[in-house]
Amino acid sequence: MSKIIEEELFKRTIFKDESKLSTDYVPQNLVHRENEIRQLLNYLRCMIDAPGNITQKVLIVGPVGTGKTATSKLFGSSFSDAARRRNIKLRYIHVNCHKDRTPFLILMKVVKTLIDGFPDRGLSTQELLNIVCERLEEEDEYLLLTLDEVDYFIRVGGESSLYDLLRASEEYLNKKQRMSFILIARDQFFIPLLDRSTQSVLMRNIIRFKPYTAEQLRDILMERVKEAFYENTVSNEIIWSIAEIAAKTGDARYALELLWRAAKTADMEGRRIVTIDDVRIAVSTIHPSIREEEIDALSTHEKLVLLAITRCLKKTDQQYVNIGEVEKMYRMICEEYRVEARAHTKIWEYIQNLKNAGLIYTKIVNVEPKGRTTQISLVETPLEFLEKELLKRLEEG
Ligand SMILES: Nc1ncnc2c1ncn2[C@@H]1O[C@H](COP(=O)(O)OP(=O)(O)OP(=O)(O)O)[C@@H](O)[C@H]1O
Ligand SMILES: [Mg+2]
Repeated sequence: MSKIIEEELFKRTIFKDESKLSTDYVPQNLVHRENEIRQLLNYLRCMIDAPGNITQKVLIVGPVGTGKTATSKLFGSSFSDAARRRNIKLRYIHVNCHKDRTPFLILMKVVKTLIDGFPDRGLSTQELLNIVCERLEEEDEYLLLTLDEVDYFIRVGGESSLYDLLRASEEYLNKKQRMSFILIARDQFFIPLLDRSTQSVLMRNIIRFKPYTAEQLRDILMERVKEAFYENTVSNEIIWSIAEIAAKTGDARYALELLWRAAKTADMEGRRIVTIDDVRIAVSTIHPSIREEEIDALSTHEKLVLLAITRCLKKTDQQYVNIGEVEKMYRMICEEYRVEARAHTKIWEYIQNLKNAGLIYTKIVNVEPKGRTTQISLVETPLEFLEKELLKRLEEG
């Protein structure tokens, strides 16, 4: 009896451990990614089977929230444990290229991870690379380096920056191959930009992460509910309704955000059970795929193109708008902001970038008499909200 009372008194909140719902928490068990983990192992097992013999490069592609980051982090830590058990020193380092966008910043992060207390000296990229290579050689270590969101990196630094980084390991370590890579991107648009040999390696070693189905999202949510909540606070019905909503995009991050937000509402109102209405409120306050940092990361012209798409959609009240209309609107907005409009090919590139960032959908349609055009739509974001966010940022400069 007293145990129950103590337990109840202790539970002032329905969260047993809210941190288990945070975006950077990596669960120990990633349901429905067993096959992808096996594929990663098959591509990279040479690092353990025959260390130093070859360098390997694997590419993971898949849309928003499909577990690319979580899977590679979990793989990295288990894989380096497996190496340690076999007396191989294998380091896993995960770099987010959205944050560290140049070879210099990436290598700085690698050096600082490898060497504790490494000072911020004025070194060149080349010098940093030499330090990494020498250090690995001295310590007889191997490095599995993940370049997450590598598309940002290529957008900023151009394809040669990736080439230099991937090639460096081969050129500078003519003794042993000590570096292998996992590249992560939402789309494989950048592959044709790379040199032929890297292209063919990546095309051979590609792992595709598919959007999650409602059933898969349900299982993911179930696991997380066990970790994050006290019993009987989130019913199976609630889990299923969130899974179904998030299955439209197949985005596990969105599903987890909905769960967290719904539970937060219940919690704040002092209720011990999450209701369908809490889910509804969560849906109305979280916009899938529009994350402020995504908007922040766009270049000025990408923001202008996105604003043009938003305005065109507002005007027509249709779900899709033609690329030609977007281009016209973009030119008008450029005049409004007194900036020089970019050429057609550039606009097309911006649209690809917006698509890769998960901000818009595109589809190709046939038009009479003969020809094809691209149509553009926004993800389920209220237009007013997006326009406001864009204007705010464009005004700030
Ligand atoms: N199979 C899974 N099991 C449990 N949790 C998962 C699974 N897949 C994804 N998640 C969780 O969903 C969230 C999003 O996953 P993650 O960050 O790995 O997606 P991503 O594919 O890297 O997305 P983005 O392209 O936006 O970077 C994370 O909180 C992650 O822990
Ligand atoms: Mg990610």
